[in-house]
Amino acid sequence: MDQRRSKVTLGLGALVLAAAACQGSLGGSTQSDPENEQGQTPVDLAGTAIGTDKQTVLDERNLSFTDAIRTASLKLTDNLPSLQTIRDMEKAADQRVAYEQAIDTMFDSSTFKRRMLRWARDTFRQGGGAMDSAPALLARIVVEGRPLAELFTASSNNCPSFDGATNEFVDGECANGAPVQAGVLTNPGTMKQFYSSMAFRRVRWVQEVFACTKFPAEYSEITVEMGAGQFTSPWDFTSISNTPINFHDTSAVVCANCHTSMNHIAPLFANFDQNGMWKDSVQVMTPTAPDPQKTAFSHWLSPGEATAWRFGKPTKDLAELGQALASDPEVTNCMVARLWNLTMSKEDIVSDLATVPMKVVAPFIEQTATNGGNLKETLKAMLKSDDFTRF
Ligand code: HEC
Repeated sequence: MDQRRSKVTLGLGALVLAAAACQGSLGGSTQSDPENEQGQTPVDLAGTAIGTDKQTVLDERNLSFTDAIRTASLKLTDNLPSLQTIRDMEKAADQRVAYEQAIDTMFDSSTFKRRMLRWARDTFRQGGGAMDSAPALLARIVVEGRPLAELFTASSNNCPSFDGATNEFVDGECANGAPVQAGVLTNPGTMKQFYSSMAFRRVRWVQEVFACTKFPAEYSEITVEMGAGQFTSPWDFTSISNTPINFHDTSAVVCANCHTSMNHIAPLFANFDQNGMWKDSVQVMTPTAPDPQKTAFSHWLSPGEATAWRFGKPTKDLAELGQALASDPEVTNCMVARLWNLTMSKEDIVSDLATVPMKVVAPFIEQTATNGGNLKETLKAMLKSDDFTRF
C-alpha cells in the first residue's frame, strides 16, 4: 500500500521541482499557476483540478479506512492498531465515523506525545537532556492544541520538559537571564548548540527550521549585475558592513544576497554566550585574522541601520522578532508543510529538499490560519483527508 502512496506523491513531484526552482516553494507566489489564473476551478485536496484529465491518477485511488488506520497508527504512535480496532472498523455502519473516532483517540494517547517530541527533536535538530526544552515546547504546543504563535512569543514556561514516567509535559522557565523571553528564540539549549561566529548559525537555524529554506531568504523584483554575479536582495547593498569582514565582496559570490538579511537578524542573538546564557554585552566573535575580536554592531551593519526580521519588518529585540515570526505566513506555511511531511513519511524539507507543493497543503494552511494556529487540529485534518485515506 505504501508503494501506491509513493506512486501518487511521485506524480506530484514535478510540481515540487517547478515550485522549488523559483525558491518560492512555500511562501512563493502562485501567479503563474494556470489553475489559479482560472480562479474558480474546483480542485481536490491534492490541488488537482477536478474535471480535467489530470484527475485520473488520483482518481484511481480507493478509499480504505482500515489501511489508513494502520498507517496513521504507525505514524502517530509507532504501533499498529489492535486487530480488534481494525475488525470493528470493518464492521462499522459508518467506517468514516469509526476511523475519525479512532484518530481522535490516538491524539489523546501518551504515545502520541512521545511521537510529537521525537518529531520536534528531528525538526529542531536537537534534543536530549538540556537540549530538550525547545523540542518539548513545540511538542507541547501541538499536543495541547495551543497557538503556534506561542512557539515564538511565550514569555514564561517556554522551557518545559517531558516526564517519561508520567508521560506529562512539565512547566519550566528558561532562566538564562534574557531581558525578555520569546518562546524558543531565547532557549538556552538552542543558543548553546548553535553558538558561532557573529551569531550566524543561530540565524541560520531560525531561517531553515521556521522559514523552510536556506539563505538567501529574500528576493527583490529587480536584480542588479554585480561582480561575479547578481545582487538579488531587496535591502540596500550598503546597509551591511564592509569591515572588518567585507560583506560587499562580489568577486566570487555576492555575500550581500544572504548577508543583508542575516546581518539584520544576527545582532538580536549576539548576547547569548557559548552556554546559551544572556549577558549584558555581545558574546560572539568576528573571525578576523590572525586574532578574532568581539563583534561590534558595526561589523554587521552600517551606521543608522536597525535590526529586522525582513526588509521592511524592523524588530528591535527578540520579543519583536517572535511577533514577526508568529505573524509571518511563510512560517505558518513552513510548519504546516513539515507536518505534511510527517504524515507522508518524507524527510526534512530543507536538508533533504523534501519540498511540498503549495497546492497540496493549501487547504491545511488556510485551516491553520483560521483555527488560531492549532497544529493539532491541522494534523488531524491531514489524517482524515482524502490524500491520507485513499490508496
Ligand atoms: C548563500 C548564502 C551566503 C552567502 C552568499 C555568503 N554567506 Fe556567509 N554565511 C552564510 C550562512 C548560512 C552562514 C552560517 C553558517 C553556519 O554557521 O552554519 C554564514 C557564515 C559566515 C561567517 C561566519 C563564519 C564562521 O566562522 O562561523 C562569515 C564571516 C561569513 N559568512 C562571511 C561571508 C562573506 C564575506 C561572504 C561573501 C564572500 C559570504 N559570507 C557569503 C550564508 C552565506
